[in-house]
Amino acid sequence: MTRLFAVVIALVAAAPLLAEDVTFNADVMPILQRHCQDCHRPGQIAPMSFMSFDETRPWAQSIREVVERRTMPPWHADPRHGEFSNERRLSQAEIDTLVSWVDEGAKRGDPADLPAARQFPDGWAAGTPDAIYPMVEEYEVAAEGSDEYIYFRVPLDFDDERFVSSVEVMPGNRAAVHHVLVYVQPKTMGTLSRTDVARYNNIAGTELFYGDGDTIRVGDGAPKHDNGCAVPNGGSALSGDITGGRRAIIGVFVPGGRGEHWPEGTARRLPPDSELLLQIHYNKTGSVMLDRTSIGLKFAKRPTEKIMRARWVQNYYFTIPAGADNHAVTGCYTFEKDVTLYSLWPHMHFRGKDMEMTAIYPNGETKTLLNVPRYDFNWQHTYMLKEPMSIPKGTRILVTAHFDNSKRNPFNPDPNQTVRWGDPTYDEMMIGGMDYTFDDEDLTAEATQQQP
Ligand code: HEC
Repeated sequence: MTRLFAVVIALVAAAPLLAEDVTFNADVMPILQRHCQDCHRPGQIAPMSFMSFDETRPWAQSIREVVERRTMPPWHADPRHGEFSNERRLSQAEIDTLVSWVDEGAKRGDPADLPAARQFPDGWAAGTPDAIYPMVEEYEVAAEGSDEYIYFRVPLDFDDERFVSSVEVMPGNRAAVHHVLVYVQPKTMGTLSRTDVARYNNIAGTELFYGDGDTIRVGDGAPKHDNGCAVPNGGSALSGDITGGRRAIIGVFVPGGRGEHWPEGTARRLPPDSELLLQIHYNKTGSVMLDRTSIGLKFAKRPTEKIMRARWVQNYYFTIPAGADNHAVTGCYTFEKDVTLYSLWPHMHFRGKDMEMTAIYPNGETKTLLNVPRYDFNWQHTYMLKEPMSIPKGTRILVTAHFDNSKRNPFNPDPNQTVRWGDPTYDEMMIGGMDYTFDDEDLTAEATQQQP
């Protein structure tokens, strides 16, 4: 009796909505086109396509779940801090529409309501680059097994210093390529940073870093401290300012991304005698795939005013105990000049749980620049500030990360290991990356930069 009563109430409450049911054709398809099809279409990174009603309908319950939990579309910044130009988020109204569609039985609706299919022009987002550098050879990705993280050296066809206004990655196989980190490094460096290893081994004769096959790891002689802010500039003294002589990152690709295009008057600097190094994360799809990814560069029309610099606020020297489920590690860096900040790039591996980047101004005020409450290694987002931000000299950037090295972390490669810094994903990293320019820099003022 009570149940019947409840059903009647529910029907009455729902009645006004029945007049205009939420349907796939009228309401859902436009949302999928705007927010999902970049990845959910054939040949892209998502394993299922949402290009039609028939393809989408079997996923209705799952779509309801992921949009309510906000795990799709993939975007990991806490909306209370910072505004980002490349944000991927559904509005509450869009979530409500998707949820109502599922709750009302996931109906197709009137064919006349279906919008025209969205076009996806292939090719370069920012137009044809000035130069395209493909991987030297095709790489074969195995059908099964764990994901692969492979380094490829990519030669450039020039030896002089260049200024680059845009870096875009064209995956050779979009179903296979999950992320690409694009580095610039001296040609002589190889895959392993041998120069760095040699240099840092010499400090007080202790082994700070050692090479291990293709990788760099922190050695036993290295200091141990989780609080990078307790020492001047913490572990960030070694981070990659693009000044040449070592490896530095110039671009990051994640699926659906559009490359990095720097504002007029700013550019990345490629030092003389450089080459590119790619780190590619390959996804497994169940069939063997071939990939030959290319990098497209646009050269800035000289003279460029400012170099777009990258600095990683990091801590090389943490120790995460086996089983620890919320281990805090901090890193700090204090700007010695007035700068303008353009983007933020949090980076950890599989035990990374959350990261926050905060500015502590010289007057003591603080501002959270970015908070990533549930870090996901699979999504290496660069968070591009909607408005570039002025940061005065003397401002300290505090990066706080937490790691979950317990067995409750489903991505944990081994909860029984004590974990320190290392390149491989079974070791950890702790990086709060920043891209910025110096306010007082003007390369156009230097006569040597004037040649065309
Ligand atoms: C930037 C790429 C990208 C965008 C945009 C995106 N997805 Fe996904 N989606 C993925 C990938 C990759 C997977 C595979 C599993 C994973 O990585 O979570 C996935 C998986 C899913 C799944 C399956 C989850 C499961 O439990 O198996 C659903 C449902 C889904 N996405 C819905 C959506 C919806 C709805 C949107 C738009 C509102 C969307 N996605 C936008 C990349 C994307």
